[in-house]
Amino acid sequence: MRNLSNKEWYEKLERYVGGGSSTGSKKAVLLPEEPAVIQRGKGCRVWDADGKEYIDFRNGLGPVTLGYGYPELNQAIMEQMEYGFVYGHPTGLEAEVAELFSKVVPSAEKVRFLKTGGEACSAAIRLARAYTGKDHIIQIGYNGWLNSLASGARVNPREVSKGAPLGVPQQISDLYHAVRWADEEAIKNLFANYKGQVAAVIIAADYANMEEGKNFYPFLREITRENGALLIYDEIVTGFRIAMGGVQEYFGVLPDLSVFAKGIANGMPLSVFCGRADVMDMLTKGATVSSTYGGEALSLAACKKVIEIYQRENICRYLWDAGGMLWSQVNDLFDKYHIPVKVKGFWPCPTFVPQEDAPDNINSSFFRLAYKHGVSLYNVSYVNFSHKGEDIAETVRRLEGAVSELASVL
Ligand SMILES: Cc1ncc(COP(=O)(O)O)c(C=O)c1O
Repeated sequence: MRNLSNKEWYEKLERYVGGGSSTGSKKAVLLPEEPAVIQRGKGCRVWDADGKEYIDFRNGLGPVTLGYGYPELNQAIMEQMEYGFVYGHPTGLEAEVAELFSKVVPSAEKVRFLKTGGEACSAAIRLARAYTGKDHIIQIGYNGWLNSLASGARVNPREVSKGAPLGVPQQISDLYHAVRWADEEAIKNLFANYKGQVAAVIIAADYANMEEGKNFYPFLREITRENGALLIYDEIVTGFRIAMGGVQEYFGVLPDLSVFAKGIANGMPLSVFCGRADVMDMLTKGATVSSTYGGEALSLAACKKVIEIYQRENICRYLWDAGGMLWSQVNDLFDKYHIPVKVKGFWPCPTFVPQEDAPDNINSSFFRLAYKHGVSLYNVSYVNFSHKGEDIAETVRRLEGAVSELASVL
Protein backbone atom coordinates (compact mmCIF):
# COMPACT_ATOMS: atom_id res chain seq x y z
CA MET A 1 0.00 0.00 0.00
CA ARG A 2 1.27 3.52 -0.73
CA ASN A 3 2.85 5.41 2.09
CA LEU A 4 0.38 8.27 2.56
CA SER A 5 -0.63 10.12 5.73
CA ASN A 6 -4.11 9.93 7.27
CA LYS A 7 -4.93 13.29 5.73
CA GLU A 8 -3.79 12.23 2.26
CA TRP A 9 -5.76 8.99 2.44
CA TYR A 10 -8.83 10.92 3.56
CA GLU A 11 -8.54 13.20 0.54
CA LYS A 12 -8.12 10.23 -1.80
CA LEU A 13 -11.17 8.51 -0.29
CA GLU A 14 -13.21 11.67 -0.76
CA ARG A 15 -12.00 12.04 -4.33
CA TYR A 16 -12.53 8.46 -5.57
CA VAL A 17 -14.90 6.54 -3.26
CA GLY A 18 -18.61 7.34 -3.46
CA GLY A 19 -19.58 8.85 -0.10
CA GLY A 20 -15.97 8.71 1.08
CA SER A 21 -16.16 5.12 2.37
CA SER A 22 -17.81 1.88 1.27
CA THR A 23 -19.44 1.64 4.72
CA GLY A 24 -21.29 4.79 5.81
CA SER A 25 -20.50 4.39 9.51
CA LYS A 26 -16.77 3.90 8.93
CA LYS A 27 -16.12 7.24 7.28
CA ALA A 28 -14.07 9.43 9.64
CA VAL A 29 -16.22 12.26 11.01
CA LEU A 30 -13.97 13.44 13.87
CA LEU A 31 -10.79 14.39 12.05
CA PRO A 32 -8.01 14.92 12.84
CA GLU A 33 -8.32 12.71 15.98
CA GLU A 34 -10.27 9.87 14.30
CA PRO A 35 -8.16 7.64 12.05
CA ALA A 36 -8.99 8.24 8.37
CA VAL A 37 -7.75 4.74 7.49
CA ILE A 38 -6.50 1.71 9.38
CA GLN A 39 -3.43 -0.01 8.00
CA ARG A 40 -3.19 -3.05 10.25
CA GLY A 41 -4.70 -4.72 13.26
CA LYS A 42 -3.43 -7.30 15.72
CA GLY A 43 -5.35 -8.74 18.66
CA CYS A 44 -7.33 -5.85 20.13
CA ARG A 45 -5.25 -3.04 18.59
CA VAL A 46 -5.23 -1.18 15.26
CA TRP A 47 -2.77 1.27 13.68
CA ASP A 48 -3.60 4.19 11.40
CA ALA A 49 -1.64 5.60 8.47
CA ASP A 50 0.29 8.00 10.72
CA GLY A 51 1.48 4.99 12.74
CA LYS A 52 -0.70 5.83 15.75
CA GLU A 53 -1.96 2.84 17.76
CA TYR A 54 -5.47 2.50 19.22
CA ILE A 55 -7.00 -0.06 21.55
CA ASP A 56 -9.99 -0.86 19.40
CA PHE A 57 -13.58 -1.40 20.51
CA ARG A 58 -15.12 -0.94 17.06
CA ASN A 59 -14.04 -4.42 16.01
CA GLY A 60 -14.95 -3.85 12.38
CA LEU A 61 -18.32 -2.49 13.67
CA GLY A 62 -19.01 -5.82 15.33
CA PRO A 63 -17.75 -8.85 13.47
CA VAL A 64 -14.32 -9.21 15.07
CA THR A 65 -15.06 -11.14 18.28
CA LEU A 66 -11.80 -13.09 18.66
CA GLY A 67 -9.33 -10.41 17.62
CA TYR A 68 -7.47 -9.21 14.53
CA GLY A 69 -5.11 -11.68 12.84
CA TYR A 70 -6.18 -14.47 15.22
CA PRO A 71 -3.56 -17.16 14.47
CA GLU A 72 -5.74 -20.28 14.74
CA LEU A 73 -8.29 -18.70 12.43
CA ASN A 74 -5.69 -17.52 9.91
CA GLN A 75 -4.45 -21.10 9.79
CA ALA A 76 -7.95 -22.48 9.03
CA ILE A 77 -8.47 -19.89 6.28
CA MET A 78 -5.06 -20.54 4.69
CA GLU A 79 -5.59 -24.30 4.69
CA GLN A 80 -8.82 -23.80 2.75
CA MET A 81 -7.15 -21.25 0.43
CA GLU A 82 -4.84 -23.99 -0.86
CA TYR A 83 -7.87 -25.80 -2.29
CA GLY A 84 -9.67 -22.80 -3.77
CA PHE A 85 -12.69 -21.08 -2.37
CA VAL A 86 -15.52 -20.71 -4.89
CA TYR A 87 -16.53 -23.66 -7.04
CA GLY A 88 -19.36 -24.25 -9.49
CA HIS A 89 -20.82 -26.79 -7.06
CA PRO A 90 -21.66 -26.72 -3.35
CA THR A 91 -18.98 -27.70 -0.84
CA GLY A 92 -19.26 -30.20 1.98
CA LEU A 93 -18.38 -27.31 4.29
CA GLU A 94 -21.75 -25.76 3.50
CA ALA A 95 -23.53 -28.81 4.90
CA GLU A 96 -21.15 -29.11 7.85
CA VAL A 97 -21.44 -25.49 8.95
CA ALA A 98 -25.24 -25.54 8.45
CA GLU A 99 -25.38 -28.60 10.72
CA LEU A 100 -23.22 -26.85 13.34
CA PHE A 101 -25.52 -23.83 13.17
CA SER A 102 -28.59 -25.95 13.66
CA LYS A 103 -26.99 -27.22 16.89
CA VAL A 104 -26.10 -23.79 18.32
CA VAL A 105 -29.11 -21.72 17.23
CA PRO A 106 -32.27 -22.98 18.96
CA SER A 107 -34.73 -22.21 16.11
CA ALA A 108 -32.45 -23.20 13.18
CA GLU A 109 -33.89 -26.31 11.58
CA LYS A 110 -32.48 -25.30 8.19
CA VAL A 111 -29.76 -22.80 7.32
CA ARG A 112 -28.61 -20.81 4.27
CA PHE A 113 -25.54 -18.66 3.71
CA LEU A 114 -25.09 -15.24 2.12
CA LYS A 115 -22.44 -12.54 2.45
CA THR A 116 -23.95 -9.55 4.25
CA GLY A 117 -26.38 -9.05 7.08
CA GLY A 118 -28.73 -6.80 5.16
CA GLU A 119 -28.96 -9.30 2.33
CA ALA A 120 -29.85 -12.09 4.76
CA CYS A 121 -32.58 -9.89 6.33
CA SER A 122 -33.97 -9.33 2.82
CA ALA A 123 -33.99 -13.07 2.21
CA ALA A 124 -35.87 -13.66 5.47
CA ILE A 125 -38.43 -11.01 4.49
CA ARG A 126 -38.83 -12.63 1.05
CA LEU A 127 -39.45 -16.02 2.68
CA ALA A 128 -41.95 -14.58 5.15
CA ARG A 129 -43.95 -13.03 2.32
CA ALA A 130 -43.80 -16.20 0.28
CA TYR A 131 -44.91 -18.33 3.23
CA THR A 132 -47.76 -16.10 4.44
CA GLY A 133 -48.90 -14.66 1.11
CA LYS A 134 -48.96 -11.22 2.83
CA ASP A 135 -47.04 -8.05 1.99
CA HIS A 136 -46.63 -5.73 5.00
CA ILE A 137 -43.51 -5.76 7.15
CA ILE A 138 -43.10 -4.25 10.63
CA GLN A 139 -39.49 -3.33 11.34
CA ILE A 140 -37.85 -2.60 14.67
CA GLY A 141 -34.27 -1.29 14.65
CA TYR A 142 -31.75 -1.25 11.83
CA ASN A 143 -31.82 -4.25 9.47
CA GLY A 144 -29.37 -3.07 6.82
CA TRP A 145 -29.51 -0.41 4.14
CA LEU A 146 -31.51 -2.40 1.61
CA ASN A 147 -34.31 -3.05 4.11
CA SER A 148 -34.58 0.51 5.39
CA LEU A 149 -37.64 1.33 3.34
CA ALA A 150 -40.28 2.66 5.74
CA SER A 151 -40.97 6.32 6.35
CA GLY A 152 -38.98 7.13 9.46
CA ALA A 153 -36.82 4.03 9.11
CA ARG A 154 -33.34 3.82 10.58
CA VAL A 155 -31.52 4.19 7.25
CA ASN A 156 -28.16 3.57 8.80
CA PRO A 157 -27.25 2.95 12.40
CA ARG A 158 -26.73 6.70 12.94
CA GLU A 159 -29.58 8.19 10.91
CA VAL A 160 -33.38 8.09 10.67
CA SER A 161 -35.16 9.02 7.42
CA LYS A 162 -37.77 11.74 7.19
CA GLY A 163 -40.55 10.38 5.00
CA ALA A 164 -39.78 7.59 2.53
CA PRO A 165 -36.00 7.18 2.25
CA LEU A 166 -34.58 8.93 -0.79
CA GLY A 167 -34.57 6.57 -3.79
CA VAL A 168 -37.40 4.39 -2.45
CA PRO A 169 -40.77 4.65 -4.28
CA GLN A 170 -43.62 5.62 -1.94
CA GLN A 171 -45.64 2.53 -2.96
CA ILE A 172 -42.85 0.26 -1.78
CA SER A 173 -42.20 2.32 1.34
CA ASP A 174 -45.90 2.03 2.25
CA LEU A 175 -45.48 -1.72 2.78
CA TYR A 176 -42.88 -1.15 5.53
CA HIS A 177 -43.61 0.19 8.99
CA ALA A 178 -40.84 1.34 11.32
CA VAL A 179 -41.67 0.94 15.00
CA ARG A 180 -39.62 1.86 18.05
CA TRP A 181 -38.31 -0.86 20.38
CA ALA A 182 -40.87 -1.97 23.00
CA ASP A 183 -43.66 0.21 21.50
CA GLU A 184 -46.37 -2.40 21.98
CA GLU A 185 -49.23 0.04 21.31
CA ALA A 186 -47.85 0.96 17.87
CA ILE A 187 -47.53 -2.72 16.96
CA LYS A 188 -51.07 -3.52 18.13
CA ASN A 189 -52.34 -0.59 16.03
CA LEU A 190 -50.49 -1.76 12.93
CA PHE A 191 -51.89 -5.28 13.26
CA ALA A 192 -55.37 -3.76 13.65
CA ASN A 193 -54.98 -1.31 10.74
CA TYR A 194 -53.47 -3.89 8.38
CA LYS A 195 -55.53 -6.85 9.50
CA GLY A 196 -54.52 -10.03 7.69
CA GLN A 197 -51.83 -8.19 5.70
CA VAL A 198 -48.72 -8.35 7.89
CA ALA A 199 -46.22 -10.97 6.72
CA ALA A 200 -43.63 -10.47 9.46
CA VAL A 201 -42.20 -8.48 12.30
CA ILE A 202 -38.43 -8.22 11.97
CA ILE A 203 -36.60 -6.99 15.05
CA ALA A 204 -33.08 -5.92 15.90
CA ALA A 205 -32.69 -5.23 19.62
CA ASP A 206 -32.29 -1.83 21.22
CA TYR A 207 -28.86 -2.44 22.74
CA ALA A 208 -29.28 0.12 25.53
CA ASN A 209 -32.51 -1.44 26.75
CA MET A 210 -32.09 -5.12 26.10
CA GLU A 211 -33.38 -6.26 29.47
CA GLU A 212 -36.85 -5.13 28.28
CA GLY A 213 -36.63 -8.04 25.83
CA LYS A 214 -37.84 -10.23 28.70
CA ASN A 215 -41.37 -8.90 28.10
CA PHE A 216 -41.10 -7.58 24.57
CA TYR A 217 -40.07 -10.80 22.81
CA PRO A 218 -42.95 -12.84 24.37
CA PHE A 219 -45.34 -10.02 23.36
CA LEU A 220 -44.07 -10.17 19.76
CA ARG A 221 -44.26 -13.96 19.72
CA GLU A 222 -47.88 -13.89 20.80
CA ILE A 223 -49.12 -11.09 18.56
CA THR A 224 -47.44 -12.55 15.45
CA ARG A 225 -48.92 -15.98 16.18
CA GLU A 226 -52.39 -14.53 16.74
CA ASN A 227 -52.21 -12.68 13.42
CA GLY A 228 -50.64 -15.36 11.23
CA ALA A 229 -47.43 -13.34 10.76
CA LEU A 230 -43.88 -14.62 11.12
CA LEU A 231 -41.39 -13.37 13.70
CA ILE A 232 -37.86 -12.72 12.44
CA TYR A 233 -34.95 -11.94 14.78
CA ASP A 234 -32.10 -9.91 13.39
CA GLU A 235 -29.35 -11.42 15.56
CA ILE A 236 -26.56 -9.69 13.65
CA VAL A 237 -25.26 -7.92 16.75
CA THR A 238 -26.69 -10.18 19.46
CA GLY A 239 -25.77 -13.58 17.93
CA PHE A 240 -22.39 -15.03 18.99
CA ARG A 241 -22.18 -12.23 21.52
CA ILE A 242 -24.79 -12.28 24.32
CA ALA A 243 -25.07 -16.02 23.59
CA MET A 244 -24.12 -18.05 20.52
CA GLY A 245 -27.81 -18.41 19.80
CA GLY A 246 -28.41 -14.68 20.48
CA VAL A 247 -31.56 -13.30 22.08
CA GLN A 248 -33.51 -16.46 21.26
CA GLU A 249 -31.16 -18.47 23.45
CA TYR A 250 -30.89 -15.75 26.10
CA PHE A 251 -34.60 -15.03 26.50
CA GLY A 252 -35.84 -18.47 25.46
CA VAL A 253 -38.46 -17.14 22.99
CA LEU A 254 -38.06 -18.67 19.55
CA PRO A 255 -38.61 -16.82 16.26
CA ASP A 256 -39.71 -18.43 13.00
CA LEU A 257 -36.63 -17.16 11.16
CA SER A 258 -33.44 -15.48 12.25
CA VAL A 259 -30.43 -13.79 10.75
CA PHE A 260 -26.80 -13.92 11.90
CA ALA A 261 -23.70 -12.21 10.46
CA LYS A 262 -21.30 -10.19 12.62
CA GLY A 263 -19.43 -12.47 14.98
CA ILE A 264 -19.96 -15.76 13.17
CA ALA A 265 -16.65 -15.72 11.25
CA ASN A 266 -14.48 -13.14 13.09
CA GLY A 267 -14.90 -10.64 10.25
CA MET A 268 -14.88 -12.90 7.19
CA PRO A 269 -17.90 -11.88 5.07
CA LEU A 270 -20.59 -14.40 5.92
CA SER A 271 -24.25 -14.13 6.88
CA VAL A 272 -26.86 -16.73 7.70
CA PHE A 273 -30.62 -16.87 7.51
CA CYS A 274 -32.16 -19.85 9.20
CA GLY A 275 -35.27 -21.13 10.89
CA ARG A 276 -38.29 -23.39 10.64
CA ALA A 277 -37.86 -26.06 8.00
CA ASP A 278 -41.33 -25.51 6.52
CA VAL A 279 -40.56 -21.80 6.01
CA MET A 280 -37.02 -22.41 4.71
CA ASP A 281 -38.49 -24.97 2.29
CA MET A 282 -40.21 -22.10 0.46
CA LEU A 283 -36.76 -21.83 -1.17
CA THR A 284 -37.65 -24.93 -3.18
CA LYS A 285 -41.21 -23.77 -3.84
CA GLY A 286 -40.45 -20.74 -5.93
CA ALA A 287 -39.17 -18.18 -3.40
CA THR A 288 -35.81 -17.48 -4.96
CA VAL A 289 -32.75 -16.45 -3.00
CA SER A 290 -29.44 -17.15 -4.69
CA SER A 291 -25.93 -15.76 -4.82
CA THR A 292 -22.75 -16.90 -6.57
CA TYR A 293 -20.82 -16.25 -3.36
CA GLY A 294 -23.32 -17.76 -0.92
CA GLY A 295 -21.27 -20.83 -0.07
CA GLU A 296 -17.78 -19.26 -0.44
CA ALA A 297 -15.45 -21.60 1.38
CA LEU A 298 -12.90 -19.32 3.11
CA SER A 299 -15.66 -17.73 5.18
CA LEU A 300 -17.26 -21.10 5.88
CA ALA A 301 -13.90 -22.52 7.00
CA ALA A 302 -13.54 -19.49 9.26
CA CYS A 303 -17.05 -19.96 10.65
CA LYS A 304 -16.44 -23.64 11.37
CA LYS A 305 -13.27 -22.74 13.29
CA VAL A 306 -15.03 -19.85 15.10
CA ILE A 307 -17.76 -22.21 16.34
CA GLU A 308 -15.08 -24.65 17.57
CA ILE A 309 -13.18 -21.87 19.39
CA TYR A 310 -16.39 -20.41 20.87
CA GLN A 311 -17.37 -23.76 22.32
CA ARG A 312 -13.87 -24.65 23.54
CA GLU A 313 -13.13 -21.25 25.14
CA ASN A 314 -16.68 -20.23 26.15
CA ILE A 315 -16.22 -16.95 24.27
CA CYS A 316 -19.64 -15.48 25.09
CA ARG A 317 -18.90 -15.85 28.83
CA TYR A 318 -15.60 -14.05 28.21
CA LEU A 319 -17.34 -11.20 26.36
CA TRP A 320 -19.75 -10.73 29.29
CA ASP A 321 -16.97 -10.83 31.91
CA ALA A 322 -14.40 -8.68 30.09
CA GLY A 323 -17.14 -6.27 28.98
CA GLY A 324 -18.40 -6.01 32.56
CA MET A 325 -14.89 -5.34 33.81
CA LEU A 326 -14.30 -2.56 31.29
CA TRP A 327 -17.64 -0.80 30.98
CA SER A 328 -18.37 -0.67 34.70
CA GLN A 329 -15.00 1.09 35.19
CA VAL A 330 -15.83 3.48 32.34
CA ASN A 331 -19.12 4.30 34.10
CA ASP A 332 -17.12 4.94 37.30
CA LEU A 333 -14.95 7.41 35.33
CA PHE A 334 -18.04 9.20 34.01
CA ASP A 335 -19.32 9.48 37.61
CA LYS A 336 -15.97 10.59 39.00
CA TYR A 337 -15.61 13.40 36.44
CA HIS A 338 -19.34 14.28 36.31
CA ILE A 339 -19.68 13.45 32.60
CA PRO A 340 -23.39 13.04 31.76
CA VAL A 341 -23.04 9.78 29.78
CA LYS A 342 -23.69 6.16 30.77
CA VAL A 343 -22.62 2.89 29.21
CA LYS A 344 -25.91 0.97 29.08
CA GLY A 345 -27.08 -2.43 27.94
CA PHE A 346 -25.70 -5.96 28.07
CA TRP A 347 -21.92 -6.00 28.53
CA PRO A 348 -21.04 -7.73 25.23
CA CYS A 349 -22.77 -4.99 23.17
CA PRO A 350 -23.50 -1.90 25.27
CA THR A 351 -24.02 1.62 24.03
CA PHE A 352 -23.10 5.13 25.19
CA VAL A 353 -26.26 6.94 26.27
CA PRO A 354 -26.16 10.71 26.93
CA GLN A 355 -28.02 11.59 30.13
CA GLU A 356 -30.89 14.08 30.28
CA ASP A 357 -28.82 17.20 30.97
CA ALA A 358 -26.01 16.31 28.52
CA PRO A 359 -24.81 18.96 26.05
CA ASP A 360 -25.44 18.22 22.35
CA ASN A 361 -22.82 15.98 20.76
CA ILE A 362 -21.46 14.78 24.08
CA ASN A 363 -20.75 11.32 22.60
CA SER A 364 -18.81 12.85 19.70
CA SER A 365 -16.82 15.07 22.07
CA PHE A 366 -15.95 12.02 24.18
CA PHE A 367 -15.12 9.81 21.16
CA ARG A 368 -12.85 12.52 19.74
CA LEU A 369 -10.86 12.68 22.98
CA ALA A 370 -10.83 8.88 23.26
CA TYR A 371 -9.15 8.75 19.81
CA LYS A 372 -6.70 11.39 20.93
CA HIS A 373 -5.78 9.21 23.92
CA GLY A 374 -5.54 6.05 21.79
CA VAL A 375 -8.93 4.32 22.17
CA SER A 376 -11.30 3.70 19.25
CA LEU A 377 -14.99 3.63 20.22
CA TYR A 378 -18.38 3.64 18.50
CA ASN A 379 -21.98 4.16 19.70
CA VAL A 380 -22.16 0.38 20.21
CA SER A 381 -18.71 -0.68 21.43
CA TYR A 382 -17.48 -4.23 21.89
CA VAL A 383 -14.76 -6.13 23.69
CA ASN A 384 -13.27 -9.09 21.85
CA PHE A 385 -11.48 -12.21 23.14
CA SER A 386 -8.09 -10.51 22.62
CA HIS A 387 -8.88 -7.73 25.12
CA LYS A 388 -7.08 -9.25 28.07
CA GLY A 389 -6.88 -7.87 31.63
CA GLU A 390 -3.85 -5.65 30.90
CA ASP A 391 -5.48 -4.21 27.77
CA ILE A 392 -8.57 -3.35 29.77
CA ALA A 393 -6.50 -1.71 32.51
CA GLU A 394 -4.59 0.26 29.87
CA THR A 395 -7.88 1.30 28.23
CA VAL A 396 -9.20 2.62 31.53
CA ARG A 397 -5.98 4.62 32.03
CA ARG A 398 -6.21 6.07 28.51
CA LEU A 399 -9.91 6.85 28.92
CA GLU A 400 -9.27 8.58 32.23
CA GLY A 401 -7.06 10.96 30.22
CA ALA A 402 -9.93 11.51 27.76
CA VAL A 403 -12.64 11.92 30.39
CA SER A 404 -10.62 14.31 32.57
CA GLU A 405 -9.86 16.43 29.50
CA LEU A 406 -13.55 16.39 28.58
CA ALA A 407 -14.49 17.47 32.12
CA SER A 408 -12.16 20.46 31.84
CA VAL A 409 -13.95 21.77 28.72
CA LEU A 410 -17.58 21.06 29.68
C1 LIG B 1 -28.68 -5.30 13.57
C2 LIG B 1 -28.13 -5.15 12.19
N1 LIG B 1 -28.83 -5.65 11.16
C3 LIG B 1 -28.38 -5.57 9.90
C4 LIG B 1 -27.18 -4.97 9.61
C5 LIG B 1 -26.69 -4.92 8.20
O1 LIG B 1 -25.64 -5.83 8.04
P1 LIG B 1 -24.60 -5.60 6.81
O2 LIG B 1 -23.97 -4.28 7.06
O3 LIG B 1 -23.66 -6.77 6.92
O4 LIG B 1 -25.44 -5.64 5.58
C6 LIG B 1 -26.43 -4.40 10.63
C7 LIG B 1 -25.17 -3.70 10.34
O5 LIG B 1 -24.70 -2.87 11.09
C8 LIG B 1 -26.92 -4.50 11.96
O6 LIG B 1 -26.23 -3.98 12.99
